[in-house]
Amino acid sequence: MIYLDNAATSFPKPARVYERMDRFLREEAANPGRSGHRLSVEAEAQILQARNILAKFFNVKHPERIIFTLNGTDSLNIAIKGVLRAGDHVITTVLEHNSVLRPLNALAANGKIALTKLDASKEGLIDPENVRKAIRKSTRLVAVTHASNVTGVVQPVQPIGRIARESGALFLVDAAQTAGVIPIDVEQDLIDLLAFPGHKSLYGPPGTGGLVVGERPQLVPWREGGTGFDSESATQPEEFPFALEGGTPNTVGIVGLKEGVEFILKEGLERIQNHERSLVRKLRDGLARLSGVHLHGTSDVAKSVAPVSFVVDGLDPQELSVILDQSFDIAVRAGLHCAPLVHQALGTFPKGSVRLSPGYFNTAHDMEQAVSAVREIQSQVSV
Ligand SMILES: Cc1ncc(COP(=O)(O)O)c(C=O)c1O
Repeated sequence: MIYLDNAATSFPKPARVYERMDRFLREEAANPGRSGHRLSVEAEAQILQARNILAKFFNVKHPERIIFTLNGTDSLNIAIKGVLRAGDHVITTVLEHNSVLRPLNALAANGKIALTKLDASKEGLIDPENVRKAIRKSTRLVAVTHASNVTGVVQPVQPIGRIARESGALFLVDAAQTAGVIPIDVEQDLIDLLAFPGHKSLYGPPGTGGLVVGERPQLVPWREGGTGFDSESATQPEEFPFALEGGTPNTVGIVGLKEGVEFILKEGLERIQNHERSLVRKLRDGLARLSGVHLHGTSDVAKSVAPVSFVVDGLDPQELSVILDQSFDIAVRAGLHCAPLVHQALGTFPKGSVRLSPGYFNTAHDMEQAVSAVREIQSQVSV
């Protein structure tokens, strides 16, 4: 099978992720920080190590300000609902995933916030100057995806971060498609809130994610509960990470995520990035040579990440993806990819497109197979 749905979740994971999770679950999986016994202390140490390694990875000064979550969606909800107050204005973009759009739309529909959605250019880019123009006195949050999960186009986060910082707004970056593939430095990029899934390019298992909370945002926690200490306190402790981490964490997942990040550090982010870029180039070049295939995003692979989306004249995206799966054993994703406004802008709403998202474990041969499968399907249909 050729798996080309890494934008949804990476598969397979590095072998060390499976091995470590198996060993942890069999031998070490006590509840961290809850009890004083040796296993509990060791489990807590593993979680601490995971926080420390992620802090290094994203240049976070205070590792305790990395909150472990369930996935990218969970991180975005904790951030959005935690920072916004009645009367706030929020700037976001048409490039966003529903994990950003839906919570914001719901808050706007309830009259709690005012919402501005910025358009992207023809190249799929947000112009930082449009962010500046949209700023109001009441702008509390600027929420932008680091890269579209449809086109893969990487956004100019640092200039947007600078504008948000200068205006006193908070800057939330959705790094679902970039964490683990392109370098992210929360200090340099002036990011106040970085939401990332653990299960995509960081190679953790499903059910993992994180939120980096800088020193400026004041978040109201929605999940309150046990933290393993300060139990006499009637309310949630304010101390990080406990303020936002009530309940038993996904220890085995977090340990797997730590292994995933260690794998990236060992391989080298640049090597991973270069390999993925070479796959994207091969895929785009191959598809571009097929008449009737219309590619989205940019042909400059240095300005994008892995998702490659396209439509084929006369072929329903869903149908094409089913044939790829059933007749060629190639796993892809078709439709709107939870990002309806991008498709409206591209003119591919409501059917969407076909998305092929290679990952580090794919090969150049996989790309050739995918292109030749699309070619064959086209030739069958046009017979
Ligand atoms: C850009 C973007 N944001 C958010 C998400 C949501 O992440 P998760 O699936 O981890 O909830 C995704 C998932 O595909 C995404 O691509």
